Amino acid sequence: MKILVTGGAGYIGSVLTGRLLEKGHKVTIFDKLFFGEEPLKQYSSDKNFRLVKGDINSGEDFSKALGNNESVIHLAALVGDPACKKNPELARKTNFDATLKIAHLCKEKKIKRFVFASTCSVYGFSNSQQLTEESALNPVSLYAITRLYSERALRVLSNSVFNPAILRFGTVYGLSPRMRFDLVVNTLSMKAATEGKISIFGGNQWRPFVHVSDIVDAINLVIESPVEKVAGEIFNVGSTEENYLIKQIGQVISESYPLVKVDSVDEIDDPRSYNVNFDKIKKTLGFRTKRTLKEGVKEIVEAIKSGAIKNTADAKYYNHLI
Ligand SMILES: NC(=O)c1ccc[n+]([C@@H]2O[C@H](COP(=O)([O-])OP(=O)(O)OC[C@H]3O[C@@H](n4cnc5c(N)ncnc54)[C@H](O)[C@@H]3O)[C@@H](O)[C@H]2O)c1
Repeated sequence: MKILVTGGAGYIGSVLTGRLLEKGHKVTIFDKLFFGEEPLKQYSSDKNFRLVKGDINSGEDFSKALGNNESVIHLAALVGDPACKKNPELARKTNFDATLKIAHLCKEKKIKRFVFASTCSVYGFSNSQQLTEESALNPVSLYAITRLYSERALRVLSNSVFNPAILRFGTVYGLSPRMRFDLVVNTLSMKAATEGKISIFGGNQWRPFVHVSDIVDAINLVIESPVEKVAGEIFNVGSTEENYLIKQIGQVISESYPLVKVDSVDEIDDPRSYNVNFDKIKKTLGFRTKRTLKEGVKEIVEAIKSGAIKNTADAKYYNHLI
C-alpha cells in the first residue's frame, strides 16, 4: 500500500515508519521536522521511504506530497497540553484548521483510508468507572479541545468515499527514535534513572497507559482491516488492564528499582483523570496490547543508564520547549 504519514518524524511516527516499511508498504513522511530529521535517518536508504519536509497548514504542500498515495495516517500536530497552552493560535491552526484542510483534500482525492490520531484526553476529567467511546466527553485543555473538534469535523465530512477512522490513544510511553520526556511514564522513568528520586503530583488521577509499539500495532491493524470494519468508527486504543492511578507508577518503579526515593506532593500539576474501557477495539479488530508499564519503565531506565540516551535535559525531548 502507498501510505502518507503526516508527523511521521515524531515520537509515534518514527516508530510507525519502521513498522510500515517492514511490512513492505511505500511510505511518504510529510513533516515540518520540528525535532529534526535524525529520528528517520535509519530509514533513508530504504527504497520504499520518502521524506517530504512541509507544513500541514499549506494545502498546496500537502497536495503535492499526497500524490498518488492511497492511505493517510494523520499524526502531525502540536502535541500535549503545555505546548498548546504556550502557542494557542498555532495549536488551533495546526490541530484543527489544518486537519480540516487536509481532510477536504483527501475527500476530493477519494482517499478511502484516513486514520486520525486523537487522544483519550478528550474524556478530560471523569469520575465514571469505565469510559467507552460512547461516554460523555469533558476535555480540560486546549490540546484536547482541538482533537475533539477535529474528530467531530471529520465525522461530518464522512461519506461513502471518505470515511476516517478515529483512534483515541491512551497516554503513550516507551522508547522511540524521537524520544519524549514530557510524557508522565517517560518523565518518571528518566528521573528515576538520572536523579534516583521521583515526585508524584496528586496521585489519585486515573490514566490509561499504552506502549508506543502497541499504538503502532493498532494503527497497522486499522490500516489492514477491511474498510467497512473501521470506516467512520472511533476506537479507544490501549488495554483496560493498563489503567493506573498516577501514584501506582511510583509503585511500579519501586518494584524494579527499590533504591529510588518516591516523594508524594499534594499539589496536582495535571487535573486529567479518566479510566478507559478498550473492549471495542478488542472485540471488533481482535487488538490486544503486548507490552506492560513495568517493561516500558525498564527499557527507558536501561537506555539512559547504558548511555544509549544522553543529555535527557535537551530541549528536543520536550514539546513545549520548541
Ligand atoms: N504521545 C501521546 O501520548 C499521544 C497520546 C494521544 C494522542 N497522540 C496523538 O498522536 C499524534 C502524534 O503524537 P506524538 O507523541 O508522536 O507527537 P510528536 O510531537 O512527537 O510528533 C508530532 C510531529 O508532527 C510534526 N508537526 C507538527 N506540526 C506540523 C505541521 N504544521 N506540519 C507538518 N508536521 C508537523 C512535528 O514535526 C512532529 O514530528 C498526535 O496527533 C497526538 O495528538 C499522542
